[in-house]
Amino acid sequence: MSRTAFRAALCTPIDDPATAGRDAIVYHPDGLLLVEDGHIAACGAFRDLAPSLADPVSMQHYPGALIVPGFVDAHVHFPQVDIMASHGAGLLDWLDRYTFPCEARFADPAHARTTAAFFLDEMMRHGTTSALVFATVHAASVEALFEAALARNMRLIGGKVLMDRNAPDALLEDAQTGAAATDRLIRAWRGRGRLGYAVTPRFAPSCGDTLLAAAGRLLAAHDDVLLHTHLSETADEVALVDQLFPAADGYVDVYDRAGLLTRRSVLAHAIHLSSGDRARLAETGASLAHCPSSNLFLGSGLYDLAAADAAGLTTALGTDVGAGTSLSLLATLGDAYKVARLRGQGLDPLRGLYLATLGGARALGIDHRIGSLQPGKEADFVVLDPAATPLLARRRATCRGVEDVLFMLATLGDDRCVAETRLMGAKAWRRGRRNGSGG
Ligand code: GUN
Ligand code: ZN
Repeated sequence: MSRTAFRAALCTPIDDPATAGRDAIVYHPDGLLLVEDGHIAACGAFRDLAPSLADPVSMQHYPGALIVPGFVDAHVHFPQVDIMASHGAGLLDWLDRYTFPCEARFADPAHARTTAAFFLDEMMRHGTTSALVFATVHAASVEALFEAALARNMRLIGGKVLMDRNAPDALLEDAQTGAAATDRLIRAWRGRGRLGYAVTPRFAPSCGDTLLAAAGRLLAAHDDVLLHTHLSETADEVALVDQLFPAADGYVDVYDRAGLLTRRSVLAHAIHLSSGDRARLAETGASLAHCPSSNLFLGSGLYDLAAADAAGLTTALGTDVGAGTSLSLLATLGDAYKVARLRGQGLDPLRGLYLATLGGARALGIDHRIGSLQPGKEADFVVLDPAATPLLARRRATCRGVEDVLFMLATLGDDRCVAETRLMGAKAWRRGRRNGSGG
């Protein structure tokens, strides 16, 4: 059996602070995380756990660092890393000008493989250990992503995009072809390593009723797969959906009628919603992926976290790269706070940590395996360096508690603060040593 102990400050959610209060977050200023065969065996105060450690155990000590669960990105497009920061005029224009040409290049499997490897290496560098990922319409793009994730032993869920209209011909296929390819991919990949599959219709404007219904049938036929799509991101998109689906009672109903709203459904954005929409979404158990960086970049709108909470909805956090401007969940949390403020709301740092970790795991249905530093879970975690730059080091010295540190990391931090990323206890990435800081 392999055993390694990690000593540092430890902070982990064990529940949602919005419902469970302050006790939902566990913090040990001098903590010890014991990992046995890739799983967490113990997490607690160093002084309590150290005496019971049987010799010999390898001990990694990170003075000044903060260990948190690996970040979970609940909505991201791996092929779009090359179009981040592309100047445009809102979602629909941005899709036509940048996204569709970028995704057409994934007809080349070699391009898919190099991009998938780059993307996952960047995830490791940003401390993101799990994600729900859009590929492109090409089966080879999903195969490239899964092969790269399998090689890194990542817990990752992805899917082939389904679309049959309103995009260049090279990216379209009829409903039957798309559904058959999806079914083949599910059977070939589910359960391999730590991989999962998500049926991935792009969004209602790209999918006719027949294709949406086929996606619904796939979701019903495979009870271990997710449904991943976009919902109500911009006002123009909502107007287009009303026009394209005159028989439906709005955007949520378009998905509802196709059987796409379930406990296994993750809907990105979900900004332009009525209270009736939220109530129906909550009834179905669907989760929402809040993507604040993307929403600010495209000018899509402001996610209403308080309304989602009040409706009893599960919210997770997504970078939505390439419309998102960073792969860092820390930077994304900083944007989530600003969006909350523009809504006249708050987002406290402990809730933020929950959203970026256990909240994402819950939305993806993998919280029994990852998302917190609790015994029995897979040991996916990040060693954060709160003093990664001279400015952070100076500001860190004035922080009074872990809440201050977490808020500072969300507001000023990003990949520079990720000293080490571990997957099932094994080192997946380590930053080069910096002067005067841990890691
Ligand atoms: N809606 C449909 N496709 C996309 C996409 O690729 N990015 C974003 N942000 N929204 C979408
Ligand atoms: Zn997206």
